[in-house]
Amino acid sequence: MLNRTRLSLAISVAGILLGIGACGDNSVGPPNPPPGPPPEPPPPSPAEVRAMLIDTVRLLVDHRNLDPLEPPPPVRSQLVELGRSLAFDRILSGNRDISCMTCHLPSFATGDGRSLSIGVGGSGLGPDRTHPDGEFIPRNSPSLFNLHLSTQFFWDGFVEELEDGPIATEAGDQLTSEMQEVFEFGALSAQPMIPVLRRKEMRGSGDGNELSALDDDDFTGVWVGLMARLGEIEAYREMFEAAYPGTPFDDMTFAHAANAIAGFYVSDLTFIDTPWDRFLRGDDDQLGDSALRGAKSFMTIRCMQCHDTDQFDDRNNEHHNAAIPQIGPGLGDGPGGNDDFGRERVTGDPTHRRLFKTPPMRNVELTAPYGHAGQFATLKAIVVHYDSIDNRLRDYDVSQVEPALQPTLLNNFDEILATRDTILIPITFDDAGADDLVAFLESLTDEAARDLSHLAPASVPSGLPIDR
Ligand code: HEC
Ligand code: HEC
Repeated sequence: MLNRTRLSLAISVAGILLGIGACGDNSVGPPNPPPGPPPEPPPPSPAEVRAMLIDTVRLLVDHRNLDPLEPPPPVRSQLVELGRSLAFDRILSGNRDISCMTCHLPSFATGDGRSLSIGVGGSGLGPDRTHPDGEFIPRNSPSLFNLHLSTQFFWDGFVEELEDGPIATEAGDQLTSEMQEVFEFGALSAQPMIPVLRRKEMRGSGDGNELSALDDDDFTGVWVGLMARLGEIEAYREMFEAAYPGTPFDDMTFAHAANAIAGFYVSDLTFIDTPWDRFLRGDDDQLGDSALRGAKSFMTIRCMQCHDTDQFDDRNNEHHNAAIPQIGPGLGDGPGGNDDFGRERVTGDPTHRRLFKTPPMRNVELTAPYGHAGQFATLKAIVVHYDSIDNRLRDYDVSQVEPALQPTLLNNFDEILATRDTILIPITFDDAGADDLVAFLESLTDEAARDLSHLAPASVPSGLPIDR
């Protein structure tokens, strides 16, 4: 009995995989039905249903070539400790008032628990952070997990590894080939070069800030200025020289600092021991029934047409418009300057308007709010958004974001839908289906990521306070 049901199930799964409509029974019935109904088979027991579900999910996993995540090679500890200090040290900001980790807090799963970050001049941490002028950074601060698996960063992929080798960033050729030679972690090593340049994120303005006085596009000047600051602190000189044996501090550039921060992320923010990864290694008991149903639907209702890698970002680094509403100050795009054209900002191609990076999913349970501007307060809310997506966009509930951002919602739904990915149109599911998808996404959580308090050092060489 079980085997026969499993066989017919395998056939129907094969049908799904071959693109045959799973429920499209258009065939005309036989002209002469056989006399008398066939005997009713007994309904499968819950254990049989579960066994079938496991078989289906494993079949789909094979078909999608999904593998458990593998750890990166170990990073030398001196580089990690240098990177840790730099990432938590406010000395990298113009006014010494904000560190990288202020917006990527260990207590908020390396995000900041906010829809939109608050940068230079803010006070308080995470959801309690405020700015005297009510200023926001226009995008949500992403989490920093498993970045060794990514080759492009930022919601629009502004920092990315190009196919022919070099790394493209908004710093252009001021990021020299000598600097790129220092990078051990590809585009991830280049990424920390960028936030220090942005006035509202770290560079700041005003008197007593030697980085602020430089021209806006003098990126080299900012990097040289930061190395001068660090070089005044003997402990940093020693840490840099220990991290890069044989190179005197005075021969180093900010590329050495950026590469160390990347090394710290790779070493300490790799989280690959999740129920899903253990299931993939063969342990059926790791996933409950709801997570199994969610995995099955994630792999069959088109989620994987975009989230198609082992970490569920996009294999080809393609960007998509997932019909996400626009909130916040924007990036200067559109008639009011308060829109965000996403990938078009990088490529200049209007067909890339409002396309954003497909974010990876490990630990996604821990990284609310969701979307490129934190438009969705909960995981369930963004999952439900995918059910009949066009209607969901029009019905978007802005009360889920903080009051200061609610009036910033743009009423440009038709324009958003103009480049909305058509893959998304047929996706529908009910509330129980949404709960199953959430249960699957929760199976991507590594328990060790729930408490990251060990990430922060006890102190940093500058002696400045540490945001955790
Ligand atoms: C003011 C808050 C803030 C500060 C300070 C900040 N970040 Fe971020 N970080 C963000 C935001 C917002 C984004 C998304 C930006 C975008 O898409 O344009 C981001 C993106 C990133 C990413 C890309 C992640 C991904 O998956 O695409 C990395 C890596 C990162 N930051 C590391 C750093 C480092 C290193 C520093 C310090 C040199 C830093 N951040 C300082 C808010 C901040
Ligand atoms: C057409 C490509 C595409 C498909 C199909 C797709 N996604 Fe996404 N997904 C994206 C993009 C792009 C984003 C980021 C969108 C943004 O913020 O503008 C995203 C964001 C998300 C996020 C938020 C992650 C975060 O860190 O903010 C979740 C969760 C998610 N998707 C789950 C799903 C589920 C579940 C499905 C299937 C029902 C699905 N996606 C189908 C492209 C896609």
